[in-house]
Amino acid sequence: MMEVKKVAVLGAGLMGHGIAQVAAQVAKYEVNLRDVKQEFLDNGIKMIKDSLQRFLKKGELSEKEVNETLSRIHLTMDLREAVADADLIIEAVPENVELKKSVYFEVDKFAKEGAIIASNTSSISITELASALHRPEKFCGMHFFNPPQLMKLIEIIRGVKTSDETVNTIVDISKKMGKEPVIVKKDVPGFIVNRVLIPALNEAIYLVWEGVADQEDIDKAIRLGLNWPMGPLTLLDYVGLDTALAVTEVFQRELGDPKYRPCPLLRQMIRAGLLGRKTGKGFYDWTGKK
Ligand code: CAA
Repeated sequence: MMEVKKVAVLGAGLMGHGIAQVAAQVAKYEVNLRDVKQEFLDNGIKMIKDSLQRFLKKGELSEKEVNETLSRIHLTMDLREAVADADLIIEAVPENVELKKSVYFEVDKFAKEGAIIASNTSSISITELASALHRPEKFCGMHFFNPPQLMKLIEIIRGVKTSDETVNTIVDISKKMGKEPVIVKKDVPGFIVNRVLIPALNEAIYLVWEGVADQEDIDKAIRLGLNWPMGPLTLLDYVGLDTALAVTEVFQRELGDPKYRPCPLLRQMIRAGLLGRKTGKGFYDWTGKK
């Protein structure tokens, strides 16, 4: 198994910032966190600081541990600088195949020969993404859940050419990050969790669209009837409606079954910029809320 000392996280957004935090805070890795704009890095580090403050307030971290975690996170906009000395590169850029492949093209040029590359994609084929690399055996899916600081699961997805060594190394790293890994043996759309979750969320949007119940009651019903911590519409706001649509579209394309058709309301809301918490509004108004 490969020894990992330095991790690069590409993308400081909703998932990337949390992954970088967990790598630095729990596994105590040195982390290079890269994004394409200074404002994205500023926002990412702000979210990390907010989250660390919550752990501090609860007594789960000391002031010293907060400072040490922050000192292990290095921000950069330079991709070469981010990946050149990394043993593991975790990509968490937006869910777009071409964008991800263009990032891998660069990563392949600058990363160390032995470095492992993992994608946090929630839906895109690992085998297809691997095709953009000269080292597909050193590539796999490493799918975290939102918020990465709290959610215990990591899905590790094998592409057709992923080696056992790569999988074993990612299992080991996941455990060092304090997570529970599961191995997805076949590279199928949505892997395990999203294959079940996303159709359920889409169905909840249909209930709103068909006027079956008020959105608050749909959320309440699922919270109390199924003991979900959040209702499906709140969860959609949390995950991002654009991300949910991207996954649904992959299901529709790859699995070909009409049951995966995205609800028209989902598209309408995205066109109106109602993406959820990240734009301030989705099914609910988040402006002014933490
Ligand atoms: N960092 C540190 N602590 C955090 C935090 C963060 N980012 N976010 C929340 N917390 C802490 C809060 O401080 C709070 O602590 P106390 O209870 O000690 O006060 C605790 O977590 C609970 O937070 P809240 O009271 O704000 O809210 P909550 O009770 O609703 O819990 C939650 C938040 C843990 C996120 C919970 O609502 C939950 O589990 N929701 C479901 C999340 C989920 O399903 N995620 C998967 C999404 S699907 C996905 O990610 C896959 C994909 O590909 C689309």
